[in-house]
Parts: sequence; structure tokens; C-alpha cells
Amino acid sequence: MFNEHRTRLASLYADKPGHIIYISGAAVSHRYNTDFEYPFRQESNFLYLTGVQEPDFALILVPITGAYHLLSPRRDAMFAVWMGFVRTQDQLKQAYNPDHIHFTDELGDLLASLKPESVHVINDTDAARVSELGYTPDQSILADALAWCRVIKSDGEKAELRKAANVANIAHREVMKSIRPGMNECELQAIHEFTCTRSGMRHQPYSGIFASGKGAAVLHYVDNNRVVDENDLFLLDAGAESNGYAADITRTYPANGVFNERQAAIYDICLNMLDSCIADARPGVEMEELHLKAARLLLEGFLDLGLVRGEVDELMEANIFALFFPHGLGHFLGLDTHDVGGYPKGVDRIDRPGLRYLRARRLLEPGMVITIEPGIYFIPALLEPAFENPEQARFLNVESLRGYLDFGGIRIEDNLIITEDGHENLTDVPKSRADIEAWMRG
Ligand code: GLY
Ligand code: MN
Ligand code: MN
Repeated sequence: MFNEHRTRLASLYADKPGHIIYISGAAVSHRYNTDFEYPFRQESNFLYLTGVQEPDFALILVPITGAYHLLSPRRDAMFAVWMGFVRTQDQLKQAYNPDHIHFTDELGDLLASLKPESVHVINDTDAARVSELGYTPDQSILADALAWCRVIKSDGEKAELRKAANVANIAHREVMKSIRPGMNECELQAIHEFTCTRSGMRHQPYSGIFASGKGAAVLHYVDNNRVVDENDLFLLDAGAESNGYAADITRTYPANGVFNERQAAIYDICLNMLDSCIADARPGVEMEELHLKAARLLLEGFLDLGLVRGEVDELMEANIFALFFPHGLGHFLGLDTHDVGGYPKGVDRIDRPGLRYLRARRLLEPGMVITIEPGIYFIPALLEPAFENPEQARFLNVESLRGYLDFGGIRIEDNLIITEDGHENLTDVPKSRADIEAWMRG
């Protein structure tokens, strides 16, 4: 898989003889100036090209010959005493399969032997290192080139994404059947993370959101420390990470196992937004098209419930949907949860409420992996000013909506691989009300 990735990147440099690529991997980071180590996570581009999941490595790629040089840190006996087993260069070569292996302190000698015209790098630190050694760094294209490569997933990457999704699916099901009013949100987080860790996935791809009641209307709520109430909806947005590849799944359900009438009505609108967008997810479709479709379905549902008034077109025009659905419909998913490549050079964000937070504006293509995650929230910080703004208030049933200010929110999120003729949905966690209630009943 990593050889395939390096070849893909090298193909973009076919017209650049004399140009080489230098990337340093991640180092361990510590909590402030203590010796407490944060869990190590390799930098995603470096991981994409090497598969190396240990600190202090670097690489040189020579695109024109395809040569892959891996540079490993020189470890001494005290490293072995304190930090871990030290492998020989031969063992590392066997493990990672580079064409050549060196120590990182041999970078100068390696560059001297390669005599590059230009050294392509992705960040200031690597540029400074290259300059210090007397060579010319070029930071103008490598990051975009890597993003271009990473947008279309290789077969190996799809396999990792499926593995992450499978474990996240199991963890979500586990929490869904364990929740009881009176539990603390952090107990539910513990169940999720225990389930992932037990399956060998020790790291989460992002800080999980375990939000009950009003907390569910905070888009990136991470307090995760409230006691869940009998009548709460509970929103769980958390995934799993397989060798760096993310799953990013959200489900929302009633803490007591049965949707009440008000929850059911809003839930069904959100589920319709999700299912309709998923049904349309195929090559040739634009993410913003799907976002606008979801927005329209929200307004149609709200009109039916009498929460807004007017014609759908004028409500769309006035961006009323963004008061309830203020984030983007979805994003690319891969080594990063909000993966690279959503905005290629020349494509700008749409300056419109809600849509401006869309993290990907691309025509969908086979091999892309995306999330679809519509939400409906009642966020006092957005709604209270809107109630006072005549331009918006004229479309709102303010009296009814005031009764929803403690509702919280609903988000439902699935992960899709775009295929030649549609998509493969990696997420398999109950999402219709009937399936959720049945699963929660056991
Ligand atoms: N969990 C972050 C997101 O869904 O984008
Ligand atoms: Mn999510
Ligand atoms: Mn997401």
C-alpha cells in the first residue's frame, strides 16, 4: 500500500528531474515542560507514504528514480533502558521496506550524494532544515500534491477504513444498548473507548462527543461529564482509528429507549435529510448540492410542523435553514477525520450561512470517502437573536420555537466510500426509530 502511495506521489513529479522530496515524521510531544508523553500519533502525510508509526523518522523520495530513503533516529543504550527496544537498521529495513536506510543525522551526507536542484517540503521546520544544510527548499506544491493523492483512497486504505468503521459500529451499538438515565456521559464514553481498545484500536481519531440534553446543541461538545436525564436525547459522535484511518459516526437516541412525540418528529426530519442525501451520493454529484438538498428537507419538515412559515424557496433564500443546521453536511474522511483535499486550489468557500462551513466542495469521484452528517439543533445563541431580528423572525413561529430552546440537537452521521455506480455505506448502527428502540430494548 505504501509503495503504491509513493508511486502515486512520484508520478506528479515526472517532469521535475533533479527535484526530491523530504518529509520528517512526528516527534513525541510532552505536556508543557514535563516528561509526561502524549500518545504518539504519526503525521498523516508521513504515515501515508511510509506506514512508520514511531517517532523521529524522516524520508527522502527521489521521484524520478522512485528511490525511497528512510532515515531512522540513532538510539543509544539509555534509550533502550528508558523507552523501548532498539532495532538494528537491518530490522528496520525489513519492517518498512525502503530502498535505502540511513540515520537521520546522515541527512547532510545523503543530500550531498543526491545533489538535488530543489528539495520539496511541506512545512517551515523541514524547509529550515533543508536550508541549514545548504539546499533550496520548495514549499509551493508538495502539500497540495499529497492532498491530491490522499483524496482518492487506495484499496489498502479502504480496507483500513472498513476496519475502523466495523469497530466503531460495534462500539456505538454497545453504548446504545448500555445507556440508562442517571449514567454520566463519561461512563458512556468509557464504554465506547473500552470497546474500541479491546478490539486493538487504542487511539480515537478525534475527541468524542457524548452529549445529553442541551449539550447536544453544542457542535463540538467535549465536556462529557453530565448526568443523563430520563427525558434527554443523547448524541454520540465518536469513531475508531485503524492504523491511522478514521471512522466518524454519529447517532442520537432517547436515553430512556423510547422517542417521545416531539423528539420523534424532529428525528424523522433529520433521518430523511440523511437518507435522501445518501441515496444521491454517487460520482458527479457536488457536496454543496447535497447540503442544499438537506437544508430544503429540513425546511419542508419544519413547515409541516408549523415551526417556520412561508414558502420553501423564500426560506431557502433567507438562509433560515442555517439557524437550525449551521454546519456543513459532510467532509472527506481518511487519515484525518476532516481529511485533506476538500478545497483544491482555486475553489473557495461559499460565503453563505451554513454552507461556509462545508469542508469539501468537490464533485464526488469513485474512491473518495465522505461523511454525510445532517443535524438539527435548537441553539439559543443563534435562535434568540433571530427572534429579535424582523428579517428572520417573520419566517419563524417564535412562540413555538421558544419551547424548543432546551431541546438540544440531533445529528446522524454515516461514512461512505464513493464507488463507480454509487456508494458503499460503512456505517451499520441502528438509525430508524424502530430499529433504535428495538436495539435498546435488547
Ligand atoms: N466529529 C466531527 C465531525 O463529525 O465532523
Ligand atoms: Mn462526527
Ligand atoms: Mn464528521
